[in-house]
Amino acid sequence: MMMKPPRVGIVKLPLPIIIITVCVLFFMVLLYAEKFSSFSSMSILKFKPFCPRKITKPKPRDDKRVKEEEVGKEVVNSSWIDDRFEFDAEECNVAKGKWVFSHSIKPLYSDISCPYIERQFSCVKNGRNDTDYMHWEWQPDDCILPRFNAELALKKLQGKRLMFVGDSLQRNQWESFVCLVEWVIPQDQKSMERRNIHSVFTAMQYNATIEFYWAPYIVESNSDVDIIGDPKKRIIKVDAIMDRAKNWTQVDILVFNTYVWWMSSSKIKSLWGSFANGEKGYEELDNRIAYKLALKTWANWVDSTINPNKTRVFFTTMSPTHSRSQDWGNMEGVKCFNETKPVRKKDHWGTGSDKGIMNVVTKVMKKMKVQVSVINITQISEYRIDGHSSVYTETGGKLLTEEERANPQNADCIHWCLPGIPDTWNQIFLAML
Ligand SMILES: *[C@@H]1O[C@H](CO)[C@@H](O)[C@H](O)[C@H]1NC(C)=O
Ligand SMILES: *[C@@H]1O[C@H](CO)[C@@H](O)[C@H](O)[C@H]1NC(C)=O
Ligand SMILES: *[C@@H]1O[C@H](CO)[C@@H](O)[C@H](O)[C@H]1NC(C)=O
Ligand SMILES: *[C@@H]1O[C@H](CO)[C@@H](O)[C@H](O)[C@H]1NC(C)=O
Ligand SMILES: *[C@@H]1O[C@H](CO)[C@@H](O)[C@H](O)[C@H]1NC(C)=O
Ligand SMILES: *[C@@H]1O[C@H](CO)[C@@H](O)[C@H](O)[C@H]1NC(C)=O
Ligand SMILES: *[C@@H]1O[C@H](CO)[C@@H](O)[C@H](O)[C@H]1NC(C)=O
Repeated sequence: MMMKPPRVGIVKLPLPIIIITVCVLFFMVLLYAEKFSSFSSMSILKFKPFCPRKITKPKPRDDKRVKEEEVGKEVVNSSWIDDRFEFDAEECNVAKGKWVFSHSIKPLYSDISCPYIERQFSCVKNGRNDTDYMHWEWQPDDCILPRFNAELALKKLQGKRLMFVGDSLQRNQWESFVCLVEWVIPQDQKSMERRNIHSVFTAMQYNATIEFYWAPYIVESNSDVDIIGDPKKRIIKVDAIMDRAKNWTQVDILVFNTYVWWMSSSKIKSLWGSFANGEKGYEELDNRIAYKLALKTWANWVDSTINPNKTRVFFTTMSPTHSRSQDWGNMEGVKCFNETKPVRKKDHWGTGSDKGIMNVVTKVMKKMKVQVSVINITQISEYRIDGHSSVYTETGGKLLTEEERANPQNADCIHWCLPGIPDTWNQIFLAML
């Protein structure tokens, strides 16, 4: 969990009066420059936080100070400057920012170039022909999120095992990660082995693996391998994790998630102990309560098993579902069907992201001994009603027919097209790694 250290107040630092002067100057220039209109409205908006943020920046390192002076010069020069900081997981709130569109923003792969994307996420192959959703970039307000660099990612993974553990959205993220890096690896230096619940992509020359381990509730359930369609028949063992967790212990970087499976009903059949006694003795719990118990089971496992000097642990927050178009003011719409633009409204938050669940995550992690880094994707993904697989997906192993595609009810507004939004999740993840 990345808690922000309290910001050092203005009074604690020697006031760099020069910067203030420069800011005032800059403001005058802004107001009176003939080229006023050439400043985008964005740059003017960005002006406000510029001065205070520069001054209150805590613990400026020497190299940063030099940079600030350089920035200062440019300000006097009245050329456009980007005042955001380099990414720092503890300093930068990635959830605060905006999606910026540009045709020059291009995905690193396509669902044709990358052979590892399953049907469910390969929207273009499945007939999606609007492409705007691929040309948006997430720009945090406070910092510059570095572009995803495949070579750098592989270097960081050299000699290591990276494993994504969780549900189908985690598989969405895993496939995105594999595709983001695989194109720089020669054909004979990579392999993919897909198994029932544990799939492994190997980058041989880096002696690295990028793995996916299916565990939709993280804890055990009767629906782990053979999925039970009817949520009412699913039973969760809220205190049992060891059966599969023993396969996670040799991993260097673990990324967990769990959310949507808990939301398929408001009550969850929860069992303690073992299925050895059959499926009897469960209790029906409110889904948030069951979620909390399960997450605590996971937290206990992490705290008692993980050596934070050897293993890094990440947790991807809930991926929003967009099943209620009224949430974003499209009264005539059906789910995310036909949406081709992100929501513009700042801080948009729909009914597909449960704040109670988020609170559970925050609370449980606060009490953990091992520091877990949160990849907080919920807010940024909330805006992206346009990024889902929608009707460009499959059902029961078969592509939707033209006719089925015309029916908005068939839209999958849970999973995401690849390339697409999960690439940004991984961009954040890599920046934190
Ligand atoms: C502004 O800075 C650029 C280099 O950063 C320089 O080439 C240019 O001459 C400067 N303009 C003025 C008016 O100082
Ligand atoms: C995109 O697909 C829709 C149907 O899914 C079709 O009506 C439209 O003509 C296509 N547009 C282009 C540019 O191919
Ligand atoms: C490859 O990585 C594994 C850990 O994933 C390590 O145990 C092994 O020694 C490495 N092999 C080489 C040749 O570096
Ligand atoms: C889990 O680990 C056990 C040995 O500890 C192994 O036999 C089993 O195949 C592993 N399962 C998976 C799915 O990797
Ligand atoms: C991790 O490393 C630190 C400093 O090197 C050490 O004090 C600590 O005991 C180590 N923790 C574990 C669990 O090995
Ligand atoms: C979906 O969009 C297409 C093309 O923009 C339009 O022809 C169609 O009427 C829309 N369908 C619905 C249900 O809004
Ligand atoms: C994730 O970000 C949201 C704001 O978008 C915040 O409310 C929430 O507490 C964060 N979650 C965690 C676990 O840090």
